[in-house]
Amino acid sequence: MIDESLAHALRLRAKEGDQTVLRSPELKSLYDQLRTMPAEQRGSFGKEINDLRQELQQILASKHEAAEALPSIDVTAPWDVNTSPADRPKSGLAVNGSLHPLTQEIARIVDIFARMGFTALESRQIDDDYHMFESLNFPEGHPARDDYDTFMTEEGLIAPAHTSTMQNRIISDNKHLLEQGEPIAYVIPGRVFRNEDLDATHEHTFHQLEGIYVGKNIHAGMLVATLKTYLNEYFGEELDVKLQPFYFPFTEPSFELAVERPTILRKDDSEEQKWLELLGCGMINPNVLRMAGVDPEVYTGFAWGQGIERMVMMKNEIEDIRHFNSAKLDFLRQF
Ligand code: DAH
Repeated sequence: MIDESLAHALRLRAKEGDQTVLRSPELKSLYDQLRTMPAEQRGSFGKEINDLRQELQQILASKHEAAEALPSIDVTAPWDVNTSPADRPKSGLAVNGSLHPLTQEIARIVDIFARMGFTALESRQIDDDYHMFESLNFPEGHPARDDYDTFMTEEGLIAPAHTSTMQNRIISDNKHLLEQGEPIAYVIPGRVFRNEDLDATHEHTFHQLEGIYVGKNIHAGMLVATLKTYLNEYFGEELDVKLQPFYFPFTEPSFELAVERPTILRKDDSEEQKWLELLGCGMINPNVLRMAGVDPEVYTGFAWGQGIERMVMMKNEIEDIRHFNSAKLDFLRQF
């Protein structure tokens, strides 16, 4: 008979997953015992040893399976695997995640323009001097280049300071539409970069929406109608707009468009409270059309560019532009 306490100790080791138990001196000592035993007892003792060995193998095999069946550990999870679900922080990225407020608003804006026949294309986040300046009628040394101070790589590539970088590409890539009697109608959302002193209304990285419309007999009245339709739709309210003269090298004439502040956001009846200067726009400068291979004697167009954060802040009463890039859950969960 195998000593029961020895068998028990071996089973415990197997249950703990100790693989060396099968090669242990204790198990070996049983075989030694067997060899020195009277012949008539060997048969049954040998069987006992084999049974015990098999039992230990089974215990080890089942331990191994259980270990394999365990879910893998997500080392990036912001809690310990032993934390009960009720006590885990409520970040629950997979379950409670949502689109970033800007992504939501950009989708809404692009959708409004899609219904007006505009195609959307995202701008590039790295560009060159030709698209940032030259093709927009800022020749080298033009003083207005200073208004677009941004970042440059050592190779001379530029982190674009506006989405207007896409104008030349879009007009020249779609010239065939004009020949077919169709307009070029595009909106370009994108991330832009400026060398800014940061505060509640200035960020180094933000988003713009550019718009381009080129065709025959296009005039400034169409620019105003398009932007007014868009703003009324976006704010869900009939709002007045007005143009003020401005200067951009890539438009002639150039304007700044101001929109009536939505009623719920108006603090009093003063003229200051009434208007918000919202975006830059104008009739596309003939030089810009020419550089994109379009004859300005035949075709004309309008364009505009606006900061997206600013409008989203206004609509949602967000007090600091830096919240957008802060990754603060308190902020993000409100959308
Ligand atoms: N790119 C200008 C800016 O960032 C905004 C702008 C003004 C875009 C007039 C236009 C435009 O397309 O026609 O300040």
